[in-house]
Amino acid sequence: MTTPQSTVTTPAKVILITGASSGIGQATAVQLAREGHQVVIGARRTDRLTTIAHDIEAAGGKVDVCHIDVCDREGVAAFTDAAAERHGRIDVIVNNAGVMPLSRLDALLTAEWDRMIDVNIRGLLHGIAAALPHFQQQGSGHFVTVASIGAHQVAPTAAVYCATKYAAWAITEGLRLELDPSIRVTTVSPGVVESELADSITDTVAREAMRTYRADSIAPGSIADAISYAIGQPPGVDVNELVIRPARQR
Ligand SMILES: NC(=O)c1ccc[n+]([C@@H]2O[C@H](COP(=O)([O-])OP(=O)(O)OC[C@H]3O[C@@H](n4cnc5c(N)ncnc54)[C@H](OP(=O)(O)O)[C@@H]3O)[C@@H](O)[C@H]2O)c1
Repeated sequence: MTTPQSTVTTPAKVILITGASSGIGQATAVQLAREGHQVVIGARRTDRLTTIAHDIEAAGGKVDVCHIDVCDREGVAAFTDAAAERHGRIDVIVNNAGVMPLSRLDALLTAEWDRMIDVNIRGLLHGIAAALPHFQQQGSGHFVTVASIGAHQVAPTAAVYCATKYAAWAITEGLRLELDPSIRVTTVSPGVVESELADSITDTVAREAMRTYRADSIAPGSIADAISYAIGQPPGVDVNELVIRPARQR
């Protein structure tokens, strides 16, 4: 059996990550497991999750895999309940799952608007609803929302996506204001990051525009570093928001 290569400076935590089958979620799971935390990874593509879990375990990390669709409120509740049951607590939930099928509003791709609202807003709310009772019962916990630079500025073709990320920002900030200080709340807002996110764009105009916009990108590990930093602070320190983007991005 291999010995975990733990670099963790705080006690190992039980950390749930939604949308961990690729991109930022995957990089975050790999990094936090490398730091010695128990990660619980969820997404729809369980074949991807299983491969990621094998890699984490081969490196000595601890990981559980769970099929979740964040649009399914009961499924997300089952994800958190199972983790709490298995590990005795949940320390952090990283609500990261998201989709970005961009298009101009006059393209009227209304089903794609609905999908962004369902995954990026309802999915976040489902994660909050599922973890909050555990955090309140424990008297501790940490919500991390992966929002976007799109939570701060709007661009053509991105109206609905940005609206969902403004909502994610507002929900997360409201959560912070309402909660007891024993529960920490962090919004991480990435700029352009290498991932599969733009693959969901079906609109040819938006897809072409994104090719140029996304030419300068940073690795998902940079976002994992930011999440690790927020999680690693002492209990009395709450990193409320981090914006991380390519130095060239305006
Ligand atoms: N990459 C960027 O430039 C960038 C910039 C700002 C913000 N973000 C945000 O970062 C987050 C992660 O995106 P990414 O860039 O890493 O893109 P990605 O590689 O496409 O990853 C998106 C993740 O979300 C999951 N997901 C999508 N729909 C889901 C659903 N209904 N239920 C559960 N999981 C679902 C996907 O897994 P399955 O398909 O397997 O379910 C995948 O693991 C998103 O919230 C995105 O908005 C990204």
